[in-house]
Amino acid sequence: MTAQLIDGNALSRQLRGEVRSRTAALASRGITPGLAVVLVGDNPASQVYVRNKVLACEDVGFHSVLEKYDASLTEGELLARIEALNNDPAIHGILVQLPLPAHIDDHKVIEAISPAKDVDGFHVASAGALLVGEAGFKACTPYGCMKMLESIGMKDLRGKHAVVIGRSNIVGKPMALMLLAANATVTVCHSGTADLAAMTRQADVVVAAVGKRGVLTADMVKPGAVVIDVGMNRTDEGKLCGDVDFNGVREVAGWITPVPGGVGPMTITMLLVNTLEAAERLAA
Ligand code: GUN
Repeated sequence: MTAQLIDGNALSRQLRGEVRSRTAALASRGITPGLAVVLVGDNPASQVYVRNKVLACEDVGFHSVLEKYDASLTEGELLARIEALNNDPAIHGILVQLPLPAHIDDHKVIEAISPAKDVDGFHVASAGALLVGEAGFKACTPYGCMKMLESIGMKDLRGKHAVVIGRSNIVGKPMALMLLAANATVTVCHSGTADLAAMTRQADVVVAAVGKRGVLTADMVKPGAVVIDVGMNRTDEGKLCGDVDFNGVREVAGWITPVPGGVGPMTITMLLVNTLEAAERLAA
């Protein structure tokens, strides 16, 4: 059996088309969704990410502002910028690219963002809303994974066992909560799990979000399972790859997301969806 691909580029194109039409509808009421992207320092990967986020905004007709600061920016100065963006009526979403330089407390900065503008879904209020099932912004990467499942007819996961590998605040934990909200039976595995393969072999859906290549191999996958690869790593030859041994696992799985062209584009797309929703809430 060779798995079918869940094409994140194609799904992103479709969803961005919907964002574009809803943006045009808002524009006719005099509102343009606005996203502020804040980058501190010169981390090369972060520079690529923020550039792609700004380009995606332009593509769907949003207003976007990229604020780039030297790594010497103080925590107080950054908090003052966040406060100004919280009060800026042209800005509906604020994204502070992580990681921040070591002298700045990530947590303090994220908590300074108004929950109404927390389009990354990282604020404690957003995480808490997800936990208790209230409306709030969902973290973009797990939200994108849920859309990928929905695209293959797996919106309701009643009776399915989902195994999440990884327990980060950005992916693993919110992923587990979103799967639970979709009625899956959820297991969260991590570096303290005794027998990872014994867990993943039971899974109808596996989400790999560790940040290490080769975490999931063919012998660990139940035939026909859906495999979502959140990893973003490099091979020894410098090629982009995920956490999943793609060539092996695709021979066993029913569905699989490629890297690149899988979850990656979905993350930015869901950022656009969240920003649009922030603007629509204001207009309502
Ligand atoms: N760094 C790596 N991924 C992300 C993300 O999704 N949002 C932000 N703000 N920083 C990141």
